[in-house]
Amino acid sequence: MCGIVGYFGKRPAQDFLLEGLKRLEYRGYDSAGVAVLQNKIANRKNKKDEILIRTVKSVGKVSELEKKLNGKIEGVIGIAHTRWATHGKPSEKNAHPHTDCGGRVAVVHNGIIENYRELKDVLEKRGHRFRSETDTEVIAHLLEVAMEKLPFEEAFVKTLKQLKGAYGIVAISAKDPGVMLAARLSSPLVLGIGSGEMFIASDVSAMMGDVKRVVYLDDGEITVIGNDGYVVKTFSHRKREKEELALERDKTVAEHRGYPHFMLKEIFEQPKSFADALRGRLLPDDGMARLGGLRTVAKRLRSIDRIIIVSCGTSYHSALTGEYMLEEYAGIPTEVEMASEFRYRKPLLDKKTAVIAISQSGETADTLAAIREAKEKGALTIGIVNVVGSTIARATDVGVYCHAGPEISVASTKAFTSQLAILSLLTLYLGRQRGLSLVMGQRIVRELARIPKHMERVLAQAKDIRKLAKKYAKQEHYLYLGRKYNFPSALEGALKIKEIAYVPAQGYPTGEMKHGPIALIDPSVVSVMVMPRDSVYEKNMSGMEEILARGGKVLAIATDGDAAIVRKATDVIFIPKTLEMLSPLLAVLPLQLFAYYVAVERGYDIDKPRNLAKSVTVE
Ligand code: G6P
Repeated sequence: MCGIVGYFGKRPAQDFLLEGLKRLEYRGYDSAGVAVLQNKIANRKNKKDEILIRTVKSVGKVSELEKKLNGKIEGVIGIAHTRWATHGKPSEKNAHPHTDCGGRVAVVHNGIIENYRELKDVLEKRGHRFRSETDTEVIAHLLEVAMEKLPFEEAFVKTLKQLKGAYGIVAISAKDPGVMLAARLSSPLVLGIGSGEMFIASDVSAMMGDVKRVVYLDDGEITVIGNDGYVVKTFSHRKREKEELALERDKTVAEHRGYPHFMLKEIFEQPKSFADALRGRLLPDDGMARLGGLRTVAKRLRSIDRIIIVSCGTSYHSALTGEYMLEEYAGIPTEVEMASEFRYRKPLLDKKTAVIAISQSGETADTLAAIREAKEKGALTIGIVNVVGSTIARATDVGVYCHAGPEISVASTKAFTSQLAILSLLTLYLGRQRGLSLVMGQRIVRELARIPKHMERVLAQAKDIRKLAKKYAKQEHYLYLGRKYNFPSALEGALKIKEIAYVPAQGYPTGEMKHGPIALIDPSVVSVMVMPRDSVYEKNMSGMEEILARGGKVLAIATDGDAAIVRKATDVIFIPKTLEMLSPLLAVLPLQLFAYYVAVERGYDIDKPRNLAKSVTVE
């Protein structure tokens, strides 16, 4: 999704702007651009020195922009952007930064200006010339109008008050080159504090390595950056004291560490990231979990009589697995909803409902909106989030971090298994308060602790999985099937192959096949069946027979040593035996690897799949 970076300091601004944009490349984008305040330049016409804004944009990768810049832009204050098209196709003129008619103001913007049509009509009637089809350009023209009478900062606030929608905006002006202004409403912005220099970005990872302290802006705040540092204010000019947080440098962000792609690196990190999610949280003797983040609401949690989990994409699939866990072992009625649907329903919530938001990035707009709605209605809100300090982590009443480390590849992998780790811990925590036996609790703890070793065994089969991917690389349609705990695994497997290999795939519960999808089966269709030896094994077996009887091929994910499946299925990948509720943690690994290797065979850009963004901060 769109990325913003800004620099105000003493060094050439373009160095950080390009570096920052590169660090945000993983989020997905289609074009990029920079605008820098040029140091005084002689204006031949009026013979006066003038400060100008130089803007350079290009379609495609940041490296294209870099080539175009060719080190030529001077100036120590600038803003830059990677755009993911919403209003207007990907093109150079639609790329940010956008400027006003006179090129005296430049803005970059993430989010959506919902009333841009009306604003544009009025501005056009007043004679403003628009160069792009974007919603963002109205901001530059509104600023131009307001600055006819007001200084930059006041004009900025006046402009913000005319906008409806969601935004993170950063603006510079040649008329007032001593400041950089930024504002946030439902789209993240974070300030980075350097020594004698200031940074701003939509995602903290853009500043890793450059700053040690950061300040997260909250909704309804603006920041004024100048030579003396920064101030944060509300839209009504009231000063806000903000907490400066230490930023740990994580070198892993920028390196593949010997892997050809971040996705593969992150798949292989899972034994470690899973262990990190459990670290210090298992109480083997008590068959219980220690979740420090929930301590302050421990009493309230005992009276909760319903859980709703809201999330999107891969996080939605982990939530579905969590529903099975929480109902079976914690005995709490649990529903899972796609956040984008939940926010427009009129959900019935009360104090006894806990609404859990699951999000890797902690910035997904739909999940955030769902949590805000839940909070307004009095529900207890809990975050299961990976990115520390992210908006959802801060917007929820309490939470448990996943500690998976930075996930760079757009297709989510290690975040999924870390989310399942937290959901298992939450199941233990709530279950043991509500009748889950000590013996069962201890068993779950024991099995959880074994999962990293089991994961290593599954990952050791990568070569064989690659061979299978080669065999099926040209396959044009897949069905992914599973039941109970592994129905969500099937959904996740199908999502992965759609996301990165662009192969149509449908995830379905095996038991529903007979109500429709079985009509699709013929020798050209491959069904990937997740069927470990669990309580629905026999049912899955019957499903497999039905597919085979109609000439379909079956690639099965089965429990080690299952000879019956070897005899029947077209191909088999084995996973170690574990508790049924934990089996998705192992079953998903071959599905991730299979999708990855199919995408490699098909020659796609795996870490940056087309049309997708790592975190979707607009509706
Ligand atoms: C995007 C990403 C997915 C991710 C989903 C939810 O669609 O491409 O990989 O699962 O957002 O993101 P979240 O950060 O909320 O887990």
